[in-house]
Amino acid sequence: MAEPLLSVEGLTVRLPGPNGPVTVVDGVDFTVDAGEIFGVAGESGSGKTMTFLSLLRLLPAGATVHGEARFSGQNLLTAPAGELRRIRGRQIAMVFQDPMTSLHPMLSIGRQLTDHLRTHLGVNRRSARARAAELLDEVRIPDPSGALRAYPHQFSGGMRQRIAIAVALACRPRLIVADEPTTALDVTVQAGVLHLLDRLRRDHGVAVALITHDLGVMSALADRVSVFYAGRIVESGTRADVLRDPGHPYTDALIGALSHTGALRPLPGSAPGAAERPGGCAFHPRCRYATERCAADDQTLVPISPGHLLACAENPLTRPRKAVAP
Ligand SMILES: Nc1ncnc2c1ncn2[C@@H]1O[C@H](COP(=O)(O)OP(=O)(O)O)[C@@H](O)[C@H]1O
Ligand SMILES: [Mg+2]
Repeated sequence: MAEPLLSVEGLTVRLPGPNGPVTVVDGVDFTVDAGEIFGVAGESGSGKTMTFLSLLRLLPAGATVHGEARFSGQNLLTAPAGELRRIRGRQIAMVFQDPMTSLHPMLSIGRQLTDHLRTHLGVNRRSARARAAELLDEVRIPDPSGALRAYPHQFSGGMRQRIAIAVALACRPRLIVADEPTTALDVTVQAGVLHLLDRLRRDHGVAVALITHDLGVMSALADRVSVFYAGRIVESGTRADVLRDPGHPYTDALIGALSHTGALRPLPGSAPGAAERPGGCAFHPRCRYATERCAADDQTLVPISPGHLLACAENPLTRPRKAVAP
């Protein structure tokens, strides 16, 4: 089997807090294969963003990171700063919830794209301009040459997100980290942006780490999914394993929160913040299957079928059908 494009082991992130360091990502393991869409699911505050910011070494000041993260032969956590800047610009690109995070409001779209292409690829102005128009066409912006002369505020939210994706694509990255890329968009516009990410992966073989609290978004495109809860992964597997045959009561509750109409019903209770993470399984206070053992024992991810990993001592949902011999 080919090496994964990205392989993360034992990733732990601590951020400074008023009462000392707080563990916001706690021993996370996952891989992303070339050309796949890897879904990262979980409620707000579960550590999804911090996980990926730590890989790119973009954490707030005072943060500490432990573990290993190999990307195409390089160790992201120990690579020299210059090397990491090259990886960030050219091999791993990020798309954020708010496209204005990556777009400068005062510069034309053409200027932003060509500057980026010239800095990272060293091409001349003229070829950068031509390539910029191609990129806008690639993300289906109508009238690319007109769009190059326009400014971000002249576009709708959905179009701006397409432009941010064009910026991300400019250097032909091997991985795009898309952090809640459609959360700020109307539902009708969301589908177009997601379809775009899917097409880019098919046409260019770029892998996408799709971070979202919205399982509906996930169920449309992810090849594999990991579910985060309070800084840990509680379930991982193929989209079918996790979303159609969930093993973790938390995954099941998230799916249940999506009603038939696709509208989100809130899950009762709220996810614990990093500082107030309960002992044992962190989900136990909200879990209707919880037993004493769930409060007492730390849970680790174990396979319940090939490639489907679960961190749940009781395993109430799949045990009768899928348990594998210890
Ligand atoms: N700048 C920060 N300083 C301290 N704690 C933070 C900071 N940003 C986020 N956190 C905390 O880190 C945890 C994980 O946050 P985050 O990775 O942003 O979650 P997610 O992306 O899953 O919503 C949360 O408990 C959040 O409160
Ligand atoms: Mg986030």
